[in-house]
Amino acid sequence: MNITMIHGQNHKGSSYHMGRMMAQKLAGEEEITEFFLLRDLNHFCTGCYRCIEDETACPFYAEKKLILEAMEQSDLLIFTTPTYCMAPSASMKALLDLLFDCWMVHRPKAWMFQKRAVVLSTAAGGGSGAAIKGVRQSLRYWGVSDIKGYGANLQAMNWEMVKEQNKQKVERDLTRLAKRIKRKNFPKTGIKTRALFFVMRGMHAAGWDSSPVEKRYWQERGWLGKDRPWRW
Ligand SMILES: Cc1cc2nc3c(=O)[nH]c(=O)nc-3n(C[C@H](O)[C@H](O)[C@H](O)COP(=O)(O)O)c2cc1C
Repeated sequence: MNITMIHGQNHKGSSYHMGRMMAQKLAGEEEITEFFLLRDLNHFCTGCYRCIEDETACPFYAEKKLILEAMEQSDLLIFTTPTYCMAPSASMKALLDLLFDCWMVHRPKAWMFQKRAVVLSTAAGGGSGAAIKGVRQSLRYWGVSDIKGYGANLQAMNWEMVKEQNKQKVERDLTRLAKRIKRKNFPKTGIKTRALFFVMRGMHAAGWDSSPVEKRYWQERGWLGKDRPWRW
């Protein structure tokens, strides 16, 4: 199984270790591609809106392209983020902002509908659910249907500080999650994603696009007609 893992942090703390644990249960080292934010994408969206007309016109397209290409070639996307102020890290949020043109309301990528994803977050005491939700929302609007989330309250500032019993619990939980992921061979586009797609399709059909490029994009793929971006 090919995996792209995107870490919403540069350091190798608890969130990173949880991500590694998960990935190693599912794939060999040669099948895992990792990106660290900020190391591999060191920018915030500047709100220039150039991507609305042309994704390659984003000032940070070169870095985004590498991440998108790896994602496209993967079966599973893993996102890790520490919980910061009950939300994903700012660098994870920056990536999500920089990919807002992939939302179904704009120009979703057909291959996103074939992906599965896991979002992992660690917190000291609370808020990992909100951090996971922040990432999950973008994934859902990109067209990813099968999204698993796992959060852990570890009462620690780094992985070395995490108590052995908490590490063991994380290990057990992720083993169970990995088994669930392995059981399925392909992602099935769920009812929520289909419903979102039809709402967005209605908007594009009605001409509520942010630019004429968007309507053309939907038309060229046949999505305003009978074609759909999912296989199942
Ligand atoms: C800026 C900042 C904000 C934080 N906000 C929260 C929070 O809202 N809730 C919480 O339980 N822990 C919070 N923490 C603690 C981290 O989420 C926790 O230590 C986490 O396990 C760190 O993961 P890492 O080792 O991958 O960096 C915060 C830490 C920092 C540095």
